[in-house]
Amino acid sequence: MPNPTIEIYHDPAALANAAAQHFVRAANAAAVERGVFAVALAGGSTPAGLYRLLAEPAWAAQLDWSRTLVCFGDERCVPPDHTWSNYRMAREALLDAVPLPPANILRIPGELAPAAAAAAYATALRRAFGLRGAGRPVFDLILLGMGDDGHTASLFPGMPALHERRRIVVASMVPDTVQPAVARVTLTFPVLNASRHVMFLVAGAGKAEKVRAILGSEGVTPGTPVREGGLRNGGRDLGRQAFPAGQVQPQHGRLTWLLDRATARQK
Ligand code: 6PG
Repeated sequence: MPNPTIEIYHDPAALANAAAQHFVRAANAAAVERGVFAVALAGGSTPAGLYRLLAEPAWAAQLDWSRTLVCFGDERCVPPDHTWSNYRMAREALLDAVPLPPANILRIPGELAPAAAAAAYATALRRAFGLRGAGRPVFDLILLGMGDDGHTASLFPGMPALHERRRIVVASMVPDTVQPAVARVTLTFPVLNASRHVMFLVAGAGKAEKVRAILGSEGVTPGTPVREGGLRNGGRDLGRQAFPAGQVQPQHGRLTWLLDRATARQK
């Protein structure tokens, strides 16, 4: 896997603008090369700025939504209109504002029991990507966030989902420290690491320590080759593998980290 590209922006607004440029570029390249752009959206709060930007007419007009398949990296096990729903956040910020055919949205049915929601989503992905047997969906772009604990999607430290190597979607409980304290459904590492491009959007000083552990301990500057190791914890290097977000390493695809200055600990 090539070293990640690290891009640092002055603030979340500049980060969202850069992410929108990457999104449009990926969408148009995929539409030309394969006739469809398959993207998995991230949940949480950070990507909302990107989604709102893409919903603006000047941005929305830059890609063909009829050739876009919108999926989700993970979901909370709540109904789609629940305030905790990642789908609701994306629908309100983006999906309702762009000419996306409803059939082009693969929502994780969080209203079902977790295992049933995971199975239903996996079936929908297999159908949409025309998969047989043990095939995995290859996304053109997967957007991810990262929690203060280094989790990504709903792959949390210490949880069994981290070790899933066969299924493409699993249900997961959350550690006691994580809010909202509700079961989740998540894409697994085999899918994340099969993606043509994974783009992390990370903002806020609370994440700086984990970003440093994953991307390098001397602070993060653009173009710094990523080295294993980072934070020392009682003499033991907490390299990138120590945190789920650090285990996202696309085998053949691109990996881009978009950070704001607070996360990169730049003055
Ligand atoms: C979720 C997300 C989760 C999120 C991180 C960062 O369902 O919450 O999938 O992985 O990306 O927790 O969240 P913020 O962007 O809100 O900091």
